[in-house]
Amino acid sequence: MLAPAKVNLTLAVTGRRPDGFHELVSLVAPLALADTVRVIPADTDSLTCSDPTLPTGPENLVWKAVQAFRLNTGWSQPVHLELVKNIPHGAGLGGGSSDAASVLLLLNRLSGKELGLEKLSPIAASVGSDCPLFLHQKPGVMRGRGERFNPFDDAAARRLGGTRVLLFKPSFPVSTPWAYQALAARAPASYADPQGAGDRLAQWLGGAISLGVLLQNSLQPIVFQKYPALDLLCRELSESFGWPTLMSGSGSCCFALPPADADTGPAMELVRERWGDTAWVCETSLL
Ligand code: C5P
Repeated sequence: MLAPAKVNLTLAVTGRRPDGFHELVSLVAPLALADTVRVIPADTDSLTCSDPTLPTGPENLVWKAVQAFRLNTGWSQPVHLELVKNIPHGAGLGGGSSDAASVLLLLNRLSGKELGLEKLSPIAASVGSDCPLFLHQKPGVMRGRGERFNPFDDAAARRLGGTRVLLFKPSFPVSTPWAYQALAARAPASYADPQGAGDRLAQWLGGAISLGVLLQNSLQPIVFQKYPALDLLCRELSESFGWPTLMSGSGSCCFALPPADADTGPAMELVRERWGDTAWVCETSLL
């Protein structure tokens, strides 16, 4: 099955929780860009992955998903997992979490357990904060540490579906724990106001503000200060083309939202000119 990437169109980090995680309000949307995940019953557990730089052992999040499913259901059939990677890692695009959520959905089907989303969601949350949203493959709002996901109704989802997204990522990843730690070191000034974040989402849902105006990410100033190249290119793309830009999640992938009729060729060229051939550029759209 396809395991889509996501972008955070907003990511308001509103404070630190007693468990060390952060409380957030985030509008997230899945992308047409996706990995492919297969789960096949086998004699022993094994994993093949198209990206040789990724671990195939227990460090890979897909095994965490298998273990969590076994623990919660008692289903112990060994499996062969196949990952075809298109989503870069360390990018803030949720690739690992999406693969893990897809494995849960496939195991759920294969085992005949047919657990509902209300039972699968806590299992997904035990694998990673971003996992529950990928069980839905729909846009919506993440709350709590990310594990509480409310998908939009069809009308709101339709407003996002088909929106063009230009993704651009430098050769280096950003560590998510580092980004949250650096944010916490600047608390409380670095935290967003939860009421304000909720109000802005309500304004967008009500049609009072556009998506471009809504874009916001609490982690962006932290990451942009450490990696000024991200800041410079986002600014240059916004100024040259007039497109809204933002960093996704904890980075390092950023994105622009070109209008439906825009030629993205010159912007893609600009990314390669500024960041060189090791930069990753991809045009996709919101699902
Ligand atoms: O849940 P996940 O494993 O994706 O989180 C990775 C790290 O990011 C956590 O260990 C934590 O340091 C940080 N994090 C956080 N608050 C969140 C989500 C992630 O502090 N809501």
